[in-house]
Parts: sequence; structure tokens; C-alpha cells
Amino acid sequence: MSPTVIALDFGSQYAQLIARRVRELGVYCEIFPYHVSADTIKSLGAKALIFSGGPASVYEKFAPKPDEKIYDLHLPILGICYGLQTIAEHFGGKVENAKKREYGRARIKVMQLNGSSKNHLFKNIPDSEVWMSHGDKVTKLPPNFVVTARSENSEMCAVEMISDQDKIVGVQFHPEVHHTQFGKEILANFLFEIAGLQKDWSTKDFIEQEIAKIRAIVGKEKVVCALSGGVDSTVAATLVSKAIGKRLRCVFVDNGLLRKNEAKEVRAALKTLGLRVDFVDASGLFLKRLKGVVDPEKKRKIIGKTFIDVFQSRVKDETFLVQGTLYPDVIESVSVKGPSQTIKTHHNVGGLPKKMKLKLIEPLRELFKDEVREVGRALGVPSEILGRHPFPGPGLAVRVLGAVTKARCELLREADAIYVSELKARGLYDKVWQAFAVLLPINTVGVMGDNRTYENAIALRAVTSTDGMTADWAKLPYDFLAHVSNRIINEVRGVNRVAYDISSKPPATIEWE
Ligand code: XMP
Repeated sequence: MSPTVIALDFGSQYAQLIARRVRELGVYCEIFPYHVSADTIKSLGAKALIFSGGPASVYEKFAPKPDEKIYDLHLPILGICYGLQTIAEHFGGKVENAKKREYGRARIKVMQLNGSSKNHLFKNIPDSEVWMSHGDKVTKLPPNFVVTARSENSEMCAVEMISDQDKIVGVQFHPEVHHTQFGKEILANFLFEIAGLQKDWSTKDFIEQEIAKIRAIVGKEKVVCALSGGVDSTVAATLVSKAIGKRLRCVFVDNGLLRKNEAKEVRAALKTLGLRVDFVDASGLFLKRLKGVVDPEKKRKIIGKTFIDVFQSRVKDETFLVQGTLYPDVIESVSVKGPSQTIKTHHNVGGLPKKMKLKLIEPLRELFKDEVREVGRALGVPSEILGRHPFPGPGLAVRVLGAVTKARCELLREADAIYVSELKARGLYDKVWQAFAVLLPINTVGVMGDNRTYENAIALRAVTSTDGMTADWAKLPYDFLAHVSNRIINEVRGVNRVAYDISSKPPATIEWE
């Protein structure tokens, strides 16, 4: 599908949010690096552009600038923060360092315009709160631009230049972030009032188009999928199976590092979807290869490699591999910020196609996580799967700190199952991004009855997050934590202490290893 709106990324932290918000409004938007050529934009048939914010200053020598010819396309443009500044400079305005930087909430006053200008961007929008994050400002307006909103101390906050040929608007604040009170309405005014777009993005359209695409790509060939029972791989497999039926075969590898009853529950859920699944119990092999290994990165590498070995041995005559890659991973690889430092080697099936000469099908590569859930719902994927917390590929191996053994996995499984079932019973499970128990690699002293104990300690983790990139520890009620701690110490033999993790990410990570 070609994008109706292209958002140029000038290095903004919020580039993904821009695309999400536009799609939430029913218009298909994709992100491109700021230097994409005008020819590419033209060939994709985009109907409007958004320039994102960014950390640079337009007056710096190597400031990122869009291809000049983009302006000759005369597409409607919305510039946000740096995006506005680069537009202002291009049209002959001036941008300077602001004496006072503005970060956080601010109030804007919407200007009442007369004559031909009608303040299109702020149509039906009152004076309200916006989110600012900038150090530079436009100090001289380019010719033909008018100010459409000002801050309380009269600073320029938004501009427009609407003529027969051009429809260019800009805001100094961030309409894409949640804290901007009428952010969504402002974006809607740009899309529908100014650019005159129609809604063209819905889950149903996506599913129909994707099924047709998969059929065309696969032809008469066969497809294999490594199914984990998580949201992404299950939705991807279900979509492919709708397109090509039984020519899709899924492989579910039990690595012995799953949660309590997980393999059984996944099996039951997948049955309802009519997927053809081969269940492989490789738990013995994984645990054997992990024996005595304590280094987290070594664990991850061993598990990744063992997974490939097992999966490879199960592939038959398939030529395609389904992968549940999502849009954030795609954006990350084209990001102007460049690849980030490896904090943890995430284990996924990325190494598979290269080694096995399989061709890739990634039916979700244009979607955000919440869109994947919506597609899953429309395809009838059970809500237990759609609502599941993310679970790392290396599973309990990165939650049993230190050496991984069957017995330690068992112990952790019991504690984790109590915690998760209590979260569900109290209606807290869906309120957090992720919650799980961790088995610490130390014993602690306790007293049970009249006896001294020297046993394991469990840590409980629960975080709130929107994407797993940053996270805050969840403020679970004390009485709830007390209840869970009590149950774990009383019911799980070998545990005499429970701690609650109160670290945010950064500087901690969500998983402990
Ligand atoms: P961290 O621990 O890096 O985790 O803050 C961020 C999110 O990623 C999940 N995670 C993984 N997912 N393979 C995965 O598929 C992995 O190796 C892996 N390690 C961490 C983690 O559970 C959290 O949701």
C-alpha cells in the first residue's frame, strides 16, 4: 500500500507517534528519512507531507534539510517544531536560538483571522494547552505567512501560508503527543480541512489487501512459520493462513523455558484458529546446552542458536518463512538516528531466512502493536492471546538469574503463576504492560515456625509502558503485594522472601538479564 501521508523524520523522538496519530484518524501514513527525494515522494503518490521535529538547529552548517524540490510538488505540508523552522527558513524567514527554552506544557491563544485566511488549522479549536519542546524559534516570518496561534506571552506558536498553489502550516508545539489537549483535532484539521484527504485506512481494508498480496507473492509455494503463541506471530500466521490455507505449516518449539501451562494453553488457543501446528518438545536439548551458563548474553546466544537448529530440522519443502516483524522494527532500521547500541541481543527468528535460504513474508511490517491487536480481533484470534503480556524469546532463562536448571525453572513457574493469577483476579493484569516473577541467584535467611531457613528470594516486576522502550514501575497496591508475597512464601517450597522491583527503564531494563 502506498502512503497517503509521508512524515519526514528529522530525528524526532516522536516520529512514530506522528504516523500513529495520522493512522488513528483513518489515513495511511509512513515515515521516511528527511532526505528522501522529491521523485520518490512523487512516485509513491503521497498527497500530503508532515515534517517532524528534530534535535538540530536549522542555522547549523550540517542541519538536515529536505530535498528542495519537495516544495515544487506543492503538496500540503504540516511542519512540527524543527519541521516548521526548516520551512520558515526555506521561505525566507529567520530562525534563532530562543533566549528562553520551552519544555513542557504551555497555553496557546488561537488568532482570529479575517479576510481570505480563516485559520484552517485551528478551526473549532479553543485556546488550550499544548506540549512544547524547543530551544530555537522563528524570529522573522517569511513573506505571505500569518501567525495563527500565540503563546500567553505573545510568542508565535503557529503559522500558515495558504494560497491557490500552496497549503503550508506549521506549529512550534507537538500536536502528536498526548499532552497537547486538542492535538488530534489539530492533525485532523490538517488532514481533512487543509489537505482535503479522505479516510483510507481501516483494519478491514488492510486485511483484504494483505491477503491478496500474500496470495500473489506465494503463488503455489509452501510457507512455514515459527509460532511462539505471542500476539505478533499468531496474528501473522492467522493472516497468512486466511490467504493460503493449509499450505501454511506452523512450528511451535517448547524450549523448556515457558511459563506454567503455557504450551498447553497455546495449543488450545491455536486449535480454535484452525492453524496447522507441529509441536516440538526440545526442552531437554535447550536445558542441556544451557547447563552451567550464567552470563546473560551467552544464554541468549545459546538459545538463539539452538532455536535455529531445532527449527531448521523441522522445515520440509517450504520456500517462505512468515515473520511477525512490526513497523517500529522497520522504522528503527531506516531511522536517521542510526542503529542504537546493543543492550541485549534480542532473540527472534531474524537469523533464520539467511541461513536457510527462505524467502520472507512479513505481513505486519506496516503495523503498530495496537493495530496488530485490532487485526487479530478482526481475524478471531482469542482475547487471551491478544491481551498477553510480551514474553521474551529466551523465556525463563533470563528470569532465572544465574544457572538455569529444570528445578529452578519449576520453582519460578509456580511463583510467577501465583503472581499473574492474582493480577488477573484483581483486574490489574490489563493495566500493566508486563508483570512477572524473577528468581534471584542468592539464598536469604528467614525464620519459619521455630526454624531458621536459608532459601531462595523472588523478585516481582510490574511495569507500565506504551512500547517497552521506556517503562515505569507499576504502583501496585500494597495490600495486593502483601497478599501475593504471602501466597508465594506459603505455597512455593524453597522461597522465603519476596521483593518488589521499583526501578524504571532507563536506567534499569524491564527484564533483569
Ligand atoms: P528490556 O529488558 O530490554 O525489554 O527492557 C524490553 C522488552 O523486550 C522484551 N525482551 C525480549 N523480547 N526477545 C524478545 O523477543 C528477547 O530476547 C527479549 N529480551 C527482552 C522484554 O520482555 C520487554 O517486553
